Amino acid sequence: MAATIAVLSQKGGTGKTTAVRTLTDVFRRLGLRVLAVDLDPQGNLSDYLDVDPDAFPTIGDVLTGRAKPAEAVHDGIIPANLGLAEAELVLGGKMGREMTLKRALSGLKGDYDLVLIDCPPALGLLTVNALVAADYALLSAEAQYFALQGVEQALEVIELARDSLNPGLEWLGVVLNIADMRTRHSREAFDSLREHFGEKLIDTTIRASIAYAESAERAVSIIDYRPDLGADYLNVADELLRRLRLDQARGRLAAMVNGASATAGVEAEA
Ligand SMILES: Nc1ncnc2c1ncn2[C@@H]1O[C@H](COP(=O)(O)OP(=O)(O)OP(=O)(O)O)[C@@H](O)[C@H]1O
Ligand SMILES: [Mg+2]
Repeated sequence: MAATIAVLSQKGGTGKTTAVRTLTDVFRRLGLRVLAVDLDPQGNLSDYLDVDPDAFPTIGDVLTGRAKPAEAVHDGIIPANLGLAEAELVLGGKMGREMTLKRALSGLKGDYDLVLIDCPPALGLLTVNALVAADYALLSAEAQYFALQGVEQALEVIELARDSLNPGLEWLGVVLNIADMRTRHSREAFDSLREHFGEKLIDTTIRASIAYAESAERAVSIIDYRPDLGADYLNVADELLRRLRLDQARGRLAAMVNGASATAGVEAEA
């Protein structure tokens, strides 16, 4: 049965979708069966994963009961488009509106090892649906002055989901994203998160680079586009697999990283 991880942040533009896209890619390279769920009407994850913009049905159709969940899986992703904004409104008037995604995913979870949900940049009904459907919440925080407040607000929503509908929800951790550790404000953001949340803060920060926008535009994973930067995500993936106790996949990741550095060594010698 798949472990379901909701990736969220209180603010927009913290690198959530890039994280879901890249981690999906890394976990799949390790042989894990990953279902990626785009729960943002912007549909960025669907774009990043190169889903046909006319793909039908989408998550909006599933949440409004117009389509069966299995029909909405296109190459391992349930895509979203602007129709999800309307679906959210429709959903708001329904009984059990917070449970809809959980119910939809329950029949699919047996087919996957991991389900990654990309949340929209708002702590509204869609994000609540993600938190009710999830076993784990992973926070993304941009390395800015208000990182701490953003994480605290997202944690309040996690608490709410836990207190009411999903007592088993675990906070997997927080990753400091789009960070330039040469700047004082990135270092201060890291230090304040460490001070408040201790080990919940993942040691590896995702470095800021224009290469991320370029790789998104070309629909190429950062792992292939700029392996030197992609190493950040490999380290984060390693830490997440440790926390998820997916030790075999973690071993395969270590072998992949060592294999890659051995190849790089051979190339350097040649
Ligand atoms: N490590 C990084 N360094 C620099 N830019 C990045 C990095 N990660 C993502 N970006 C860029 O920042 C922008 C926002 O990233 P992304 O879409 O992943 O954030 P998001 O949190 O999902 O945004 P939203 O809240 O709108 O859904 C994109 O242009 C993306 O290419
Ligand atoms: Mg996004």
